[in-house]
Amino acid sequence: MVVKVYKNADEIGKAIGTVFASQVIEKPDCVLGLATGSSPIPTYKYMISLYEEGIVDYSKVTTFNLDEYVGLNHDHDQSYWYFMHENLFNSINIPEEQINVLSGTAEDVEAECEAYEAKIEAAGGIDLQILGIGNNGHIAFNEPTTYFPMATHKVALTESTIEANKRFFASADDVPRYAVSMGIGSIFKAKNIVLVATGAAKADAVAAMVNGPIDPNCPASILQLHSHVTIFCDEAAAAKL
Ligand code: F6R
Repeated sequence: MVVKVYKNADEIGKAIGTVFASQVIEKPDCVLGLATGSSPIPTYKYMISLYEEGIVDYSKVTTFNLDEYVGLNHDHDQSYWYFMHENLFNSINIPEEQINVLSGTAEDVEAECEAYEAKIEAAGGIDLQILGIGNNGHIAFNEPTTYFPMATHKVALTESTIEANKRFFASADDVPRYAVSMGIGSIFKAKNIVLVATGAAKADAVAAMVNGPIDPNCPASILQLHSHVTIFCDEAAAAKL
């Protein structure tokens, strides 16, 4: 695990955006694993600027997103499908059929999760995965529990996550209680992982992930065992390292 500390979120966005650009230039038909939330936004902005300047062509890229809220369809402005289109896909040139986001409204959730895993495998696995980290140490929506959930699955969100995400909804009551999420095993198969953590609220989770025991109570701690992980923190998030 390599930890890099930057001055602010924009510097991190440029640094990780550069990693993404290198990946796409080296392997134009690569598979990118993408996240939602505040953390990846500066990276997506930088990726868009490189596209607008004609430096990076994303037309052969395939993407898989980490997770989606159960019950929200594409039109809901808090669905992760909507977020990804607003913050990245509408501004670059990945063909829609190469974009994959778990459905939050599938009738058979288990079948949806199995099909998603199979589709990642069939695409050759994820070359580069971006992650955020929850205040409680979650990655994707793998919440703290007594085991590491391996495959893509439906998950009940914890109070801590509902509390952290209510800023995007009218009230905490409007935050969906369930999500579908890639599992720890699905994430672990990515060849290269970059994780963004900014702000003081992430400092405990970052310290537990990097220096704590490998423990499903801090799901991100499993990343200590991955062979190619880089953690990009600002000073506030790195304060307890
Ligand atoms: C989002 C996701 C979550 C977030 C995490 C941090 O797709 O998988 O694990 O990365 O909750 O969220 P932000 O970046 O909003 O602090």
